[in-house]
Amino acid sequence: SDEPLILGIETSCDETGIGIVRGNVLLADAVASSVDAHARYGGVVPEVASRAHLEAMVPTMSRALDTAGVTLADIDAIAVTAGPGLAGALLVGVAAAKGYALAAEKPIYGVNHLAAHVAVDTLAAESGGHGLLTEPAIALLVSGGHSSLLYVDDVAGSYEPLGATIDDAAGEAYDKVARLLDMPFPGGPPIDRAAQGGSGDAIAFPRGLTSPKDLAAHRFDFSFSGLKTAVARWVEARERSGDPVPVADVAASFQEAVCDVLTRKAVDACRTRGVRTLIIGGGVAANSRLRALAVERCAPHGIEVRVPRPGLCTDNGAMVAALGARLVVAGVAPSALTLPTDSALP
Ligand code: KG4
Ligand code: ZN
Repeated sequence: SDEPLILGIETSCDETGIGIVRGNVLLADAVASSVDAHARYGGVVPEVASRAHLEAMVPTMSRALDTAGVTLADIDAIAVTAGPGLAGALLVGVAAAKGYALAAEKPIYGVNHLAAHVAVDTLAAESGGHGLLTEPAIALLVSGGHSSLLYVDDVAGSYEPLGATIDDAAGEAYDKVARLLDMPFPGGPPIDRAAQGGSGDAIAFPRGLTSPKDLAAHRFDFSFSGLKTAVARWVEARERSGDPVPVADVAASFQEAVCDVLTRKAVDACRTRGVRTLIIGGGVAANSRLRALAVERCAPHGIEVRVPRPGLCTDNGAMVAALGARLVVAGVAPSALTLPTDSALP
């Protein structure tokens, strides 16, 4: 095959990911997560994450190469997440990428973590994506660290940011609400499960940045901090009254508020830009209600919803490799070996 063989390294948060692709076919996706080490703190602890990346890097690399049945010498280029993310965590991945690139004399590509979340969907269907993009798309990226709407003309090009959260990320809201409902971290999966047994319109929680006045200044921005506070107040009031907290209804109503705003603004972005493809990525894209509501609201407008398989929505190395492949195919020049990390990369 003359498709490039690309290795991707991801360490921006708590997942050490090494992915290997040939063109848009996934050959290996090895992920070592330090999530259990953070669970008792209720969130990711940067120093713990950095140390875990250091320990996991070499074994995860071996695992990925073994699975793909290739050696470092076979690789055409190494792509690595340069930002945004935790500064110390990013440094481990970029330093490893530089070491491997120098040792094996391979070009290196520093990539944007958010762009990689989008690019992973361009993997072939049998690899868990939906194939290459043939026209512009809107991307809704929702995870523990980001909630953004982007206009994507070309996955190998620059992306136009349309909006982002002005406070908490969507996944962060899930994690905080889970905590106050005594559910484990990360909170997305247990809330998703609890919500199946409740009603999304049992409690009217606020929809951030959707009033006409807010829309004028923040049409494609999100805010979830007020929602989290509203849920906390509601639960506290119920506990004070001595009545049991209807956990399933709280979870479902909270989830409905998040998914309502995310899908409303995503559809608005697609329609405003005349786009017929919506890609949803990031850990929260694994949410069952978000997927269902997005399809329900996009279908009447002829908008196709593309969500990669769940394992590719959360952080992994395959997404970095997938973006690296698109950059190589597009003839983009590699980064310098002095490539810096940028924890606040836009
Ligand atoms: O993309 P990701 O693995 O890491 C970050 O870059 O943050 O996303 C993790 C986030 C967590 O906040 C987690 O609670 C959320 O994704 N999440 C979910 C679901 N699965 C994971 N949120 C809602 N529903 C889910 N099923
Ligand atoms: Zn992410």
